[in-house]
Amino acid sequence: MTVRTFARAGVVLLLGLGLGLASSSSTQAGVKPTITKQAWGSVGGQTVDRYTLTNGKFRVRILTYGGILQTVETPDRHGRMANVTLGFGSLGGYVTSKNPAYFGALIGRYGNRIAKGKFTLDGQTYQLAINNDPNSLHGGNVGFDKRVWSATPVAGRNTVALRLSYVSPNGEENYPGTLRTTVTYTITKNRGIRIDYRATTGKATVVNLTNHAYWNLGGEGTGTIDDHKLQLKASRYTPVDSTLIPTGKLDRVAGTPMDFRRPTAIGARNRSNFQQIVYGRGYDHNWVLDRRTKGLEVAARVSDAASGRTLTISTTEPGIQFYGGNFLDGTLYGTSGKAYRQGDGLALETQHFPDSPNHANFPSTVLRPGQVLRSTTVYQFGTL
Ligand code: BGC
Repeated sequence: MTVRTFARAGVVLLLGLGLGLASSSSTQAGVKPTITKQAWGSVGGQTVDRYTLTNGKFRVRILTYGGILQTVETPDRHGRMANVTLGFGSLGGYVTSKNPAYFGALIGRYGNRIAKGKFTLDGQTYQLAINNDPNSLHGGNVGFDKRVWSATPVAGRNTVALRLSYVSPNGEENYPGTLRTTVTYTITKNRGIRIDYRATTGKATVVNLTNHAYWNLGGEGTGTIDDHKLQLKASRYTPVDSTLIPTGKLDRVAGTPMDFRRPTAIGARNRSNFQQIVYGRGYDHNWVLDRRTKGLEVAARVSDAASGRTLTISTTEPGIQFYGGNFLDGTLYGTSGKAYRQGDGLALETQHFPDSPNHANFPSTVLRPGQVLRSTTVYQFGTL
């Protein structure tokens, strides 16, 4: 691996991932994938770095703060690049706003809600922070989205990757067990982001890891995603109560505005008075994926006819949360300086079902010592 120093302030190294890449003619435009590192401020005395991973005509920036996917630049049907993920232009944006929308962040220990922040495991009851009254959301007050992760660049054949690690001590945010988590972002040669999650624990615990990126295929800050078409490979979803906690039932989507089995414009039904949509102020639900195997399967497809950009999400997870950015209220100013208003981006969070620790009929989120949690999600960009 060669290391070169850049003259430009802030950029401290360029890792030419030479290993097996000398003949990288198979990568787009025949250009070698690269990864650069830039100091990006600090939080509570801890330095934060921003890594820029480039592979052909595709560029992704990742922060060690929260493992945040800060920007994702991909071409439209005419080859014009735009940043298609919501975020902020500086670390201060994430830290001072406390990133209430969880833009681009890694979510843990438990993605989504746990009812009243309470669960019982092996006869012991644990009380988590109530940070989304009356429930616990996305790991509590200081979840994985607000931790500084250690980062290691990883060389692949035609890929470039960043491995992030975080050790969450026993009892952090009141979750049991020391949890060792590794998340690897790999930028593939054809405009794909692959996320591999791995976790082990020192004591029985519950875990549900995801990434909370919001997408706008027209480019962040360009308006709503109402015209984006969404397809979800799911014939059932988990209906919720008024606090967005699953009732425990798996309802059929057929005949309801929850049916995305065929590509459908998001704006076509997100103002419906269907009770579930009223509860979520739009879409904010977990769909039960129609899976045939335990491997990576397509879960969702998104397309934007105006730009021609497409996004296909594959996962090994049993569920996906489709959240339509309903709580964005124009108070956060994003990467390009524009206010984010309701529906300006959509999150598709691959996951185990919300509140699984309190529903014995849902796939288990319990992780025990000796077991290894492995989960993979791929975001594949393309054009129509
Ligand atoms: C939840 C939303 C919540 C959002 C936070 C989503 O995963 O489902 O209800 O408002 O995260 O930005």
